[in-house]
Amino acid sequence: MSGATLFTPVSIGELTLKNRIVIAPMCQYSAENGCMTDWHLMHLGTLANSGAGFLTIEATAVSPEGRITYGDVGLYSDENERAMARTLEGIHRWSDMPIGIQLGHAGRKASSELPWKGGGQIAPDQPLGWKTVGASDVPFKTNYDAPHQLDKDGLARLRKAFADAAKRAARLDLAAVQIHGAHGYLLHQFLSPLSNKRTDEYGGSLENRMRFPLEVFDVVRNAFPADRPITMRVSATDWAEGGWNVEETTAFALALQARGCSAIHVSSGGLVDHQKIAVGPNYQVPFARAIKAATTIPVIAVGLITEFEQAEAIISTGDADMIALARAILYDPRWPWHAAAHFGAHVSAPDQYLRCQPRQFRSLFENNEA
Ligand SMILES: Cc1cc2nc3c(=O)[nH]c(=O)nc-3n(C[C@H](O)[C@H](O)[C@H](O)COP(=O)(O)O)c2cc1C
Repeated sequence: MSGATLFTPVSIGELTLKNRIVIAPMCQYSAENGCMTDWHLMHLGTLANSGAGFLTIEATAVSPEGRITYGDVGLYSDENERAMARTLEGIHRWSDMPIGIQLGHAGRKASSELPWKGGGQIAPDQPLGWKTVGASDVPFKTNYDAPHQLDKDGLARLRKAFADAAKRAARLDLAAVQIHGAHGYLLHQFLSPLSNKRTDEYGGSLENRMRFPLEVFDVVRNAFPADRPITMRVSATDWAEGGWNVEETTAFALALQARGCSAIHVSSGGLVDHQKIAVGPNYQVPFARAIKAATTIPVIAVGLITEFEQAEAIISTGDADMIALARAILYDPRWPWHAAAHFGAHVSAPDQYLRCQPRQFRSLFENNEA
């Protein structure tokens, strides 16, 4: 029996995960009009057979102008919902991994080109571009078109868009919703004083800057079945002078906890072009530790976690309850199998693959052949 805490079960609200490896949301920029394509079936299908405890579907826009790029997945139309239902049906047929979705809105960082075509903003008057909206009319970069500052009607429309997308997620039987409050997208734009210059009740004090993200949390919580978790992804710091910071993130996490948030996923950065990030292994773990120390709900750490012992240490020392992987699991979609083999733990594998179990790891797969 393995002693690794990484392979012990953990609960997020009423959802129990078999192990503490979470697959982080990763945009694939491969949707058509917001609809998932065969790429998503292949990509998510591979990850759903990785042995991780949980799979998060990429940042999914709650409205068309909330997409980062024209290739983003959306959940704002019946057509989007049908396409996602097809993908999920295919995956659930062959994997019992719980799957959640990240719902978000890109705000002033929307209307971008695909990363492999150079990224950057597509101006609103160009093909495939559109006018963006934001907390204030401050552009992400000086050469970007300034977003249209959302007025009260715009905020009401967006609350409804988040709620409607959460209802679609419920109909799709998704196990959890993560709200995207990180990486400089719309909700983070409200939180940070660097992007929120409003003078109404949604700007200025911390309480005012948190107001819209918390309202979004409430409508999503109300729209999604009470026995399924809602979590929030946060950027714990803007890595910039005068920006959003760990103390404010802690206050936000406590406010979310009080409203019934089931877990906080702690990332950082993405709000401003002049951020100075000190990147290295575990570089965001101290932020997770700070949020964990202040709250009682589970905390997920992410960011350059690539090694098995590194992941285990984050959990076993109590810095976080779960670790999330993005690039490492794209590079090696069997990372959880290899981690389980390393620690003498067990993972479930598709029956079709059982024969690949190496001799030296004879009890790796919990569902061995008879
Ligand atoms: C291809 C790719 C797509 C990403 N898309 C998203 C996304 O949809 N939502 C999000 O919150 N973060 C996104 N991220 C950030 C990751 O979830 C993660 O926080 C980041 O890559 C750091 O973790 P890592 O060092 O394990 O890659 C993306 C990262 C990559 C590499």
